[in-house]
Amino acid sequence: MTVWNTVSTSVEMTEKLGEALGKVAEPGNVITLDGDLGAGKTAFTRGLARGMGLRSRVTSPTFTIVNEYNDENGVPRLFHFDTYRLSCVDDFYDAGLDEYFERDGVCAIEWSSVIEEALPQERIALAISGTGDERTIQISFPEAFLPKMEEVKGKMEKEGMCFENISL
Ligand SMILES: Nc1ncnc2c1ncn2[C@@H]1O[C@H](COP(=O)(O)OP(=O)(O)OP(=O)(O)O)[C@@H](O)[C@H]1O
Ligand SMILES: [Mg+2]
Repeated sequence: MTVWNTVSTSVEMTEKLGEALGKVAEPGNVITLDGDLGAGKTAFTRGLARGMGLRSRVTSPTFTIVNEYNDENGVPRLFHFDTYRLSCVDDFYDAGLDEYFERDGVCAIEWSSVIEEALPQERIALAISGTGDERTIQISFPEAFLPKMEEVKGKMEKEGMCFENISL
């Protein structure tokens, strides 16, 4: 597992980070987004969708649990979850939502800690914290994602973002 810390100083920068990840994301990838209300989880996902070449504007799926975003051919590409309203992982299983992990799209999951045990081992996890316009973003991912994450890092360093490796 690799763990990086970075700082975003604006909502645009958080979106750009999402966009950079969206450019390298592949069907089947699972990205979890945790952090308080207003941390920037949806902002990140908006950039992710843009990076994946999806045109629709991403909005919070709080009242639907999951929103699907299709490409221009109508093929579902991004599944954006907000599990905030689920009280436990059984609600997730009972609604059959774990089936999304077998589908041919990228899953972005806000408030993923509620469904921790249902999550695949191989995932990219973002923990966002901070107030004002500054957000500390911790990114954890397994070895298999390293080449793609290095690409994301390289792109964001050009945007002025600094990354600190805090892997143990
Ligand atoms: N560096 C930053 N990164 C992201 N958002 C920022 C930043 N600075 C300020 N903001 C503001 O914080 C808010 C983030 O909102 P967003 O809906 O993305 O949060 P969220 O984590 O999805 O919240 P919720 O838990 O309610 O779904 C926006 O109003 C955005 O403008
Ligand atoms: Mg949100």
